[in-house]
Amino acid sequence: MSEPAPSPGSSARISAPIATPRAGFLHAGLSSVTKKYAVAMSGLALVGFLFAHLAGNLLILIPGAFDQYAAALHASPLLPLAEIGLFAVFVVHVALALVCARANRDAKPQKYAVAATRGKATLASRTMVITGCTVLVFVIVHIAHMKFRAPLFGNPTVETGSQWVLRTLAHPLGALFYAAGVCAVGVHLSHGVWSLFQTLGWNSKRWHARLTCLSRAVGALLAAGFLLIVVYALLRGGR
Ligand code: HEM
Repeated sequence: MSEPAPSPGSSARISAPIATPRAGFLHAGLSSVTKKYAVAMSGLALVGFLFAHLAGNLLILIPGAFDQYAAALHASPLLPLAEIGLFAVFVVHVALALVCARANRDAKPQKYAVAATRGKATLASRTMVITGCTVLVFVIVHIAHMKFRAPLFGNPTVETGSQWVLRTLAHPLGALFYAAGVCAVGVHLSHGVWSLFQTLGWNSKRWHARLTCLSRAVGALLAAGFLLIVVYALLRGGR
């Protein structure tokens, strides 16, 4: 596992050492390697959350099951603790990923090095900050709407959680918003999971193709799973 592998996305800009320490609490005492590890491990935790979240949401395909699941979840005394933990992991991931991206950009590698590796960079790897910020906006609006019930997609008064979800996703704007959001998640993860293996040092020439494939599969699987719920709601006409 020690032989360096070609990156599907990390051009010289991404793999260059993070050379520009800046002031601020996020830099205090944290080396660039520590920050990259923190981004990788928090990303891994968020992928775990997404699989669990998808599994819970897929229960909406079974009449009655989603509302039972939601009731059990909300009755759990551990929920507030899990939510605080999730929030903290999310903040660490977003903040340190932006710090690392900025430091990479400021490292200004030699022009020839960028030109030599640009061909290997994928669209997903070059747009990590854009897709990441899109996901951030999606999550903020999504929580405001689903958790705090901000009536953003024309929801009339509904009685159950499943009705709220189905009517949201059957609304043209809601369907569009959710389809775009989960596609951004899929594209972000199709490079993000690969990048996680790279940071942990698990990538090598031998494993490169398999890990690239796995990373894309994780992104595609999660996006397709959430999209299935949108399509189901549209087909059911929100009922
Ligand atoms: C079709 C797609 C999705 C549906 C139907 C859905 C549904 C829901 C629902 C119903 C809740 C509220 C749970 C509650 O009341 O406690 C929720 C919360 C949440 N969702 Fe989603 N979700 C979807 C996609 C996503 C995606 C792609 C992400 C992340 C990128 C995400 C992140 C979250 C987060 C962070 C929370 C707050 C969790 C908490 O504080 O308990 N969701 N979602």
